[in-house]
Amino acid sequence: MPHFLDIHKTDPAALRAMIDAALAMKAARGDRPRGAPDDTLPLSGRMVALIFEKPSTRTRVSFDVGVRQMGGETMVLSGREMQLGHGETIADTARVMSRYVDLIMIRTYEEATLLEMAEHATVPVINGLTNRTHPCQIMADVMTYEEHRGPIAGRRAVWSGDGNNVFASWAHAAAQFGFDLTFTGPEPLDPEREWLDFAAAKGRPITIERDPEKAVAGADVVITDTWVSMHDPESARERRHNQLRPYQVNEHLMSLAKPDALFMHCLPAHRNDEATSGVMDGPHSVIWDEAENRLHAQKAILRWCLGV
Ligand code: CP
Repeated sequence: MPHFLDIHKTDPAALRAMIDAALAMKAARGDRPRGAPDDTLPLSGRMVALIFEKPSTRTRVSFDVGVRQMGGETMVLSGREMQLGHGETIADTARVMSRYVDLIMIRTYEEATLLEMAEHATVPVINGLTNRTHPCQIMADVMTYEEHRGPIAGRRAVWSGDGNNVFASWAHAAAQFGFDLTFTGPEPLDPEREWLDFAAAKGRPITIERDPEKAVAGADVVITDTWVSMHDPESARERRHNQLRPYQVNEHLMSLAKPDALFMHCLPAHRNDEATSGVMDGPHSVIWDEAENRLHAQKAILRWCLGV
């Protein structure tokens, strides 16, 4: 079953083909209205369930619009409103949903929920974010880098901030697409050892540099994310802000990267915390393209999962 569960679980050639397909599909659409269908309708007659146990703007809207542009239908479901939130097992939910829909996209807290859904579904399952990874986002980010600067292979990406689930998928992408990745952040918020080991085993060891100024020197792309993720306790907010303040991406930090370096943030952002508005709205920033490219990258993922 061609599930899209994570970048490190997907064949690099398939990942490459998805990025190329996404770039081609975006170009083919040109500037037609958002609601206008694509020239071909590969999802015609297909029903896609979009399940959300966590809030979302980009993932929800981009999947919904993407399926419709390709001729398919969607149903958006909140985990809380389903029996999933009232005791029915994930496995039974997967079995039942597979009788109604052609594909399930799920955003959930625990990775175990995603994996159980995939194990018992008889239709493809896409990971729309868990506490551990966010693969669809990083497919859009790789696409965004390449549409601005060409192949990402061999380039140098620097992550400044929390070693969170978005960083995890960047680590997987570094190994699968063949670029260098540096993590700069406070030791208590280091990425999971499993992700570092995966990249190292693939010949792309992740550099850890505590000094953000040294880390970004010569970077092709500087990336950050919110300091407090959806699954982090509110009680950790002040401590995290204190730990992460030295890693804010501001105009000075960006000036130490390559002159043509890109700035990325998956959004939503807390302006003037993890990144200043000057950087977010400045000449290096491609954050709105990143957001748009969720749509195109996920359309390619959907087609790959459904084989259409
Ligand atoms: N970047 C991202 O996944 O955004 P949402 O949480 O709004 O879906």
